[in-house]
Amino acid sequence: MRSKITVVGAGFVGSTLVQRLAERDYADVVMFDIVPNMPQGKALDMLQAGPVLGYDSLVTGTNDYADTANSDVVVVTSGFPRKPGMSRDDLLKKNQEIIAQVTEQVVKYSPNTIMIMVTNPLDAMAHVALHVSGFPRERVLGMAGVLDTARFRTFIAQEVGASVRDVQAYVLGGHGDTMVPLSRMCTVAGVPIAQLIPAERIEQIVQRTRDGGAEIVKLLGNGSAYFAPSASALQMVDSIILDKKMILPSAIYLKGEYGINDLFVGVPAQLGAKGLEKVIEVELSEQEQAALHKSAGAVKELVNVMGM
Ligand code: NAI
Ligand code: 2OP
Repeated sequence: MRSKITVVGAGFVGSTLVQRLAERDYADVVMFDIVPNMPQGKALDMLQAGPVLGYDSLVTGTNDYADTANSDVVVVTSGFPRKPGMSRDDLLKKNQEIIAQVTEQVVKYSPNTIMIMVTNPLDAMAHVALHVSGFPRERVLGMAGVLDTARFRTFIAQEVGASVRDVQAYVLGGHGDTMVPLSRMCTVAGVPIAQLIPAERIEQIVQRTRDGGAEIVKLLGNGSAYFAPSASALQMVDSIILDKKMILPSAIYLKGEYGINDLFVGVPAQLGAKGLEKVIEVELSEQEQAALHKSAGAVKELVNVMGM
């Protein structure tokens, strides 16, 4: 039987993700949004791309959660994106309400699903979903680290003129200004970047990575990034649906790992059919550990503001 995936929110990230999922051809996909008819229209359009691109995925658009029943994976992208000058954290209260309400409905119809959260502020919204769902932490994950790492890898590849495929990196921490690109562990075909790029240039690239979302928000003038975010969520879904057991930087509810408790923070995580299968504890330097804790502190502040 084909897998079933629901994407909640048929906006820029959600609908681009649904198209990418349809092209994978391993699941039927339901796209939910509160806007009447819009997800139905987009779904029909995507179905009609099937004969051209060669996929048989059934794509359904809906305004009724009953259609999402028994999904294997639910990706949540519903909410408001950032506007120019607006931080991810400004979105907090608006999106907290939406995520709580969406989670209740998701759980009602798919009590065994694995949720991947995308809505910002990411780590805080994953916190809301975990607590409202009552799911174990293995089944509520957040997407941000794959995206932040992809940005870092892009800039490093451009800098040294290498293929992005040869650049390995990890960006840890919360999805915000305090994220922690681990430049010490970044390599190009196994060669540490410290041997390839001057230190001050690496620092500039690290900063550009931290500002990666804001750079695109400013250029777009309205809305935020969606091509790389949807590709990043897709990679997490791939690893779960195909049980690939990839190690992907993901927002995980930590229970003592890295000395952090009861907060979603981006760390390397093995994802497979059960959702989170293992948190990978990389040995960090004192400075990196301090930066990770600072980032966790920023997530904690948001959780406090939400009264959770
Ligand atoms: P968008 O505005 O294009 O789409 C959001 C969709 O959510 C809209 O279609 C809207 O109708 C829908 N929606 C609103 N309330 C809803 C509800 N109660 N139930 C169901 N659907 C509802 O926004 P976009 O660009 O797709 O971004 C979505 C979210 O993802 C934003 O919060 C954005 O900040 C976040 N994001 C997070 C990233 C990450 O790395 N975690 C990367 C990119 C975006
Ligand atoms: C990004 O990093 C807006 O969080 C989103 O592009």
